[in-house]
Amino acid sequence: MDFRERVAVVTAAGGLGCGRVIARRLAREGCRVVVAEVRADHGERTAADIHEFGGDARFAAVDVGRRGDVERMVAETVATEGRVDILVNNAQGYTPLVPLEEKTDEMLARSLDTGLWATFWSMQAVFPHMRAQHFGRIINFCSLNGVTGAWYSVDYNATKEGIRGLTRSAAREWGQHNITVNAIAPGAASEGYRAWADRNPDQARAAEQTIPLRRMGDPEEDLGGVALFLASDDGAYITGHTLFADGRPHGHGVAAAPVDPSRRSRPLRGGRAPHLTSRTACVTKPQVPVGTVERARHHRLRVRPPVGAAAGRGRDADTRPGQRPRRGHRRRRRAVGRQATSRPLRPPGVPVHPRRRGVRPRRRGR
Ligand SMILES: NC(=O)c1ccc[n+]([C@@H]2O[C@H](COP(=O)([O-])OP(=O)(O)OC[C@H]3O[C@@H](n4cnc5c(N)ncnc54)[C@H](O)[C@@H]3O)[C@@H](O)[C@H]2O)c1
Repeated sequence: MDFRERVAVVTAAGGLGCGRVIARRLAREGCRVVVAEVRADHGERTAADIHEFGGDARFAAVDVGRRGDVERMVAETVATEGRVDILVNNAQGYTPLVPLEEKTDEMLARSLDTGLWATFWSMQAVFPHMRAQHFGRIINFCSLNGVTGAWYSVDYNATKEGIRGLTRSAAREWGQHNITVNAIAPGAASEGYRAWADRNPDQARAAEQTIPLRRMGDPEEDLGGVALFLASDDGAYITGHTLFADGRPHGHGVAAAPVDPSRRSRPLRGGRAPHLTSRTACVTKPQVPVGTVERARHHRLRVRPPVGAAAGRGRDADTRPGQRPRRGHRRRRRAVGRQATSRPLRPPGVPVHPRRRGVRPRRRGR
C-alpha cells in the first residue's frame, strides 16, 4: 500500500504514549495524519514533531467523550483531506484505582465515554466514508486488564472488553466493504504507565517480573510497527483480531510459575507424576528405578508398597537393578507400608492367616 495516498485519524496522539508514536510512524510512511487530542499543547507538540521530519500532520482539538466533537473531527478530516482511510482509537480517560464497591457512576461513565462510546461514535462516523471508498483500517485499543479482570479497575476492564466486542462485531459486518477492524492490547511504558509506576514502584517492578521478556514495552520500538502492520497491505487479511503486543504469551488457563524452579519434580516411572494431583505415589512395579521412593518421600508422598502378584517377589523398590534383594527387605517394606498407609499388605484373594485373625489354628491330628 502506498501510505502517501492515505489519511489517518489518531486519537490521543498528543501524549507520550502509543498514540503519538503511531501518528509519527504513519506520517513517516507518508500518511497525512490528524492528531486528535484533548490537550491542545500536547496535540500541537506532536504535529510540530511530525512537521520537523517533513511529515504532514494537523492538530484537531477533540474531547472523545463527546459525540459532537468526534463527529466534527471526522467531518473536518473528510472536508480538508477528502477522505479517511485509517482510524486509530487510542484515547482513554482514567479513574482512581479503587475496589468495585467504591467505584462511582461518574467513574464508570468516564471510562465508558472516553473508551467504549468514543470508539463506537468514531467508528460510526467514519463508516460511510470507508464504505464509499471500499477501504478502511480501524485499530482500537483494548487491554490485558480487561481479559484478566485486573484489580480495582472494573470500569476500565469492562470498557476495554466492550471495545473488543465492538471490534469483533464490526469486523463481521464491515468486512464486505473491505474494512478491517482489529484491536491492540499493548504493554508500553507510556506517559500514563510511567505516572502509575512512579506512584507504585513495587507493584510496577513486580508486574514487570511477570513478563517473560522481562521488560515493559517501549512505545517507539515495540508498538508503532504493530499498528503500521495492521494498517498496511500485510495486515489486509486480519480482522476482528486482538493483537497482544505486551511481551507475554497468551492463551487460556493458568500458567502458575513454580515456587522454586530448581526443585522441579519429575514424574515417577512406573507410578504417577507427584506434581500432578495425587499425594500418594503408587509404586506398583517391583522393579522401579533407584531413587523413586526417595523422590516420592522428598515430595512428602505416602509410599504404598507393591501389592498383588508383584508383592513378595522380585526386587524391592530400594534395591538396585542386578542387586540381590537384601535380607529383611520384606519386613522393612511392610513396616513402611504399615506406617505409611492403612491399606492391608495382604494381596487380594489371599486368605488372612488364622493367627492374624486372633484364632488359634487347630492342631493337626485332632
Ligand atoms: N500503556 C500500556 O501499557 C497500556 C496497557 C493496556 C492498554 N493500554 C491502552 O492503550 C491506549 C494508549 O495507552 P497509552 O498508555 O499509550 O496512553 P496514555 O495513558 O499515555 O495516554 C492516554 C491519552 O488519552 C488522552 N485522553 C484522555 N482523555 C481524553 C479525551 N476525553 N479526549 C481525547 N483524548 C483523551 C490523554 O490526553 C492521553 O494523551 C489506551 O487506550 C490505553 O488504555 C495501554
